[in-house]
Amino acid sequence: MAVNIKINGKAIQAEDGKTILQVAKEHNVRIPTLCYHKDLNPTGNCRMCVVDVNGWRISPAACVTPVWEGMEIETDSEKVMKDRKLTLELMLANHPQDCLTCDVAGECELQDLAYEYKAEVPAWGAKGTRYKVDSDPNPFIRVDMNKCILCRRCESACAEIQVRDVWGVAKRGFDEVMVAGAGVPMLEARCESCGQCVAYCPTGALSNKMSYGMARAHQVKKVTTTCSYCGVGCQFDLLVKDNKVIGVHSNSEAPVNGMALCVKGRYGYDFIHHPDRLVRPKVRRYLLEGGGKPVSSDQLSVISDRLSVSSDQLSVTSDQLSVTSGPWDWVEVEWEKALDIVADKFADTRSEFGADTTGFLASAKCLNEENYLINKLARQVMGTNNIDHCARL
Ligand code: SF4
Ligand code: SF4
Ligand code: SF4
Ligand code: FES
Repeated sequence: MAVNIKINGKAIQAEDGKTILQVAKEHNVRIPTLCYHKDLNPTGNCRMCVVDVNGWRISPAACVTPVWEGMEIETDSEKVMKDRKLTLELMLANHPQDCLTCDVAGECELQDLAYEYKAEVPAWGAKGTRYKVDSDPNPFIRVDMNKCILCRRCESACAEIQVRDVWGVAKRGFDEVMVAGAGVPMLEARCESCGQCVAYCPTGALSNKMSYGMARAHQVKKVTTTCSYCGVGCQFDLLVKDNKVIGVHSNSEAPVNGMALCVKGRYGYDFIHHPDRLVRPKVRRYLLEGGGKPVSSDQLSVISDRLSVSSDQLSVTSDQLSVTSGPWDWVEVEWEKALDIVADKFADTRSEFGADTTGFLASAKCLNEENYLINKLARQVMGTNNIDHCARL
């Protein structure tokens, strides 16, 4: 059913049950918000979205007030503009004034609105910090409750998207504060470090430890990519500075996952520039030099265990069994060389023992096309159905 309303003097037919904010958005009328996020259930906590309704004594919050027949709404009246500015000033009164060094300056919703409404910090506001900065030992999430505006988006994101219910509010009045569990470290309150609460926090109260202090928003290039950890195919933005990946941000347009990511997707990016990362193929030295597979020190120890003698008592010495590190050393080679070795081993094994003594393990980290090709390689080139995939494990 439709209801007839007016927004800023314009007659609109709106769907019954929708909120003022939803209808305004549909008609390109902007109402500022802070606690509201399109992915989360509205809570009406911050009162930035107040509007005037003709005949109403109070100004309702547009994000939680449904449209009614005959409503006449003003979104930018002098009164609501003043109310919003006052709301912002009350938030700033209880907020450290350190945008200069704050990690989220430039992408902070509170900062943007304070600028837009020319909100000033009241002289009587709280001075200094009230809570410990970086107060939680979580290895990925930096908590600074001095910057919290009690919008409770973190609570909604954790409960509604991640279903972990880590965040809640403690105390009342001036002492009201967000806490994990019953005021315990996040990891003790069932947190799985997915970073959803960070992604939805509109201020610097929750930020990312790994990228903290590494770049301002305007200094990074955002490169949208698909996560390589599993087959779900989540998308996100890599934050790139000086050709180096320094962080990950949710991309709200991601078709599969929206803003949601798991701990691996959001924080498992340090392998990219890690010095231990393999970037070229390596093969064992004995494979390059020909000859049989030497006995390893592990095998020697198994043999001595089975014979119930010490390896010293064996009638062969380590040297005789080629138990030196030499043949087992990893040697960096060209891709062609490495692939030739693998192909030769497959061919030898198949001709000596039959195709079914070989097998293939595909991976969710490969593209669908690559997995399809491995299937062709196993069945049509090698002639075996021994093929499996890590997603089945
Ligand atoms: S959270 Fe926002 S308003 Fe607060 S210090 Fe940081 S940038 Fe400034
Ligand atoms: S990191 Fe994830 S699980 Fe932990 S508190 Fe935030 S949203 Fe909840
Ligand atoms: S920590 Fe961030 S998301 Fe949570 S209530 Fe405070 S400002 Fe809002
Ligand atoms: S956005 Fe509506 S009350 Fe916060």
